[in-house]
Amino acid sequence: MIQLKHAGTKDVTVFFCHGDSKKLKEFSEGTERLFQGEFLQTAWTTDKEGRLVLLTGMGEAGQEVIRLKELGAAAVKECRGKKITGFSMDITEIVEEYGTESVRHITEGAILGTYEQKVFKDKEENPLEIEIVGIASEDFEEAQKLFQETVTVTEGICFARDMVNLPGNHLRPEDFAKSIMEFVKDTEIETELLDLSVLKEKGMQGLLGVGESSQYPPCLLVLRYKGDPKGTRNTGLIGKGVTCDTGGYCLKPANSMLGIKGDMAGGAAVCGAMYALAKNKMPVNAVAVVPMCENRISSGSLLPGDVIGSYAGKTIEVVNTDAEGRLILADAVSYAVREEGVTEVLDIATLTGAVVNMFGFTVTGAVCDNDEMYERFEKAYTYSGERCWRIPFYKEHEKMIESKIADVRNLSNGGCGTITAGLFIRAFAEEHPWLHLDIAGTAWVDDPIFEFQSCGATGAGVSSIYRFCCER
Ligand code: BES
Ligand code: ZN
Ligand code: ZN
Repeated sequence: MIQLKHAGTKDVTVFFCHGDSKKLKEFSEGTERLFQGEFLQTAWTTDKEGRLVLLTGMGEAGQEVIRLKELGAAAVKECRGKKITGFSMDITEIVEEYGTESVRHITEGAILGTYEQKVFKDKEENPLEIEIVGIASEDFEEAQKLFQETVTVTEGICFARDMVNLPGNHLRPEDFAKSIMEFVKDTEIETELLDLSVLKEKGMQGLLGVGESSQYPPCLLVLRYKGDPKGTRNTGLIGKGVTCDTGGYCLKPANSMLGIKGDMAGGAAVCGAMYALAKNKMPVNAVAVVPMCENRISSGSLLPGDVIGSYAGKTIEVVNTDAEGRLILADAVSYAVREEGVTEVLDIATLTGAVVNMFGFTVTGAVCDNDEMYERFEKAYTYSGERCWRIPFYKEHEKMIESKIADVRNLSNGGCGTITAGLFIRAFAEEHPWLHLDIAGTAWVDDPIFEFQSCGATGAGVSSIYRFCCER
C-alpha cells in the first residue's frame, strides 16, 4: 500500500538528502559523521523526539532517472530488511533538485522495491505501508496525477514480472492468455482469443509450426484499446509469448535451459503496457497481439531443413528450430497489419543471445526503419528510465536471411544475429513503420543490477511502451 500525503503519520521516516543537508542538524548528534550523503548510502538515526529516521544519500546532483528509481527502492529495501511495516518517505530535497516529476521515479522505485516473486513454499507475508510526503501544497495536485499514473504503470510492470517468473508448468500458453484476460477484465480493453482451430483456419503456419510441438496447444491473444476513436494512429504491439523454449530439435544445452520459462517476457510487457493505457484512460489507440506456444520436441515438431508457409503466404526455410520466436512473431505481425489495421508495428521479444553478448543485461537492443518512430521511442525510454540502443541495418544484412529454397530463412548465414532476427520480422510488417525491441538481456536478472530489481523478471519494456503510445 502506497499513498501520497501532505504529512506523514508513521513513526519511521526516510529522508533523502545530501551530506551537507541542513536537515541533518535535526537528528541525534554524530549523524554527520556517519553519513556523507553518498548515492544510496544509508544510515539509521533518531530525531529529537526519539523517532527512527533513515537517511538515504542522494549523491551528486543531476542523477539519471534510473538512479532516482533506485533511491526509492533502496529505502524500501532497507526498511523491509529491518522488518519495519510502515514509514513515510520525505522527498523534499529530491523535489527541490529534480522537480515534481521526480514523484514518478520515487513512486515506481518504491513499489518495485517491495516486489517479491511468488515462491512455492511457506513464507511470511510482510505488507508495507508507505507514505510519500514533502510536496509543496501548490504542487500537490500535479504530483497526485503523476503518482496515480505511475502506480498503474507499476501494476503493469509487476504483472509482467509475475507472468515471467511463473515456471513453465504453471503457465501453459492457454493459462497465459487467461491470466491476461483476467488482469485486464475491469478495463476498457476488448479481448479476443484465437484457439488452435482458428489458427488452423487462418493458416498461421509459423505459430502452428512451433506450437504443435507440444500437447499444450498454441493460441493467439488480441487486446484492443480505443482511447481515441477519432484518431488515425493505431499502434500495433506484438509480443513474443513462448511459455517454454527448449530449442526444439536444435535443443538448448542443459546449462542454458533455466531461462526458458521467461521467453514470454515480450508478450507480458505489451499486456502490462496495454493495461496501464486503459486504466489511465489515455487518449490513444493500441492493439496488442501475442502469439503463445511452447517450443518442444515431439513428432509434431519442426525439423531443421523444413519449409513452412505463413499467414502472409511467404514460405520460410526453418534452418534452426531454436529460432522460433521470429516464426510466431511473423504471423502475429501480419495478423496485426491485415486484420487489426495497425498503422505502425512495435514488436518486443526475448529473441537473441547475440543481444546479450552485445549489451549485457541492462540495455535493450532496438532495430527500427523509421526515424520519427524511433525518436518517439527514445523520448519514451528516457522518460521512463530504461536503457535502449539502436542498432543499424543495411541491404547486406537483408541478404543474410535470403533462402535458396524459400522466400526467407530463419537463421542468418552471416552472423549479426540481433539485426537479422529483427529483419526477418520486418519482412512481415508490410512497409509499416517498424520498431523492434530485443529484450533477451534485459527481461531477466539472476542477481539484481539496480535496486528496483529483484531476482528474476524485470518487467522490461512495460513503462517505455506505455509512454511510447502516449507520445504525440
Ligand atoms: N529465446 C531465445 C533467445 C534467448 C537467449 C533469450 C538467451 C534469453 C536468453 C531464442 O528463441 C533463441 O533461442 N535464439 C537463438 C537464435 C539462433 C538459433 C539463431 C539464439 O539467440 O541463440
Ligand atoms: Zn529459441
Ligand atoms: Zn525463444
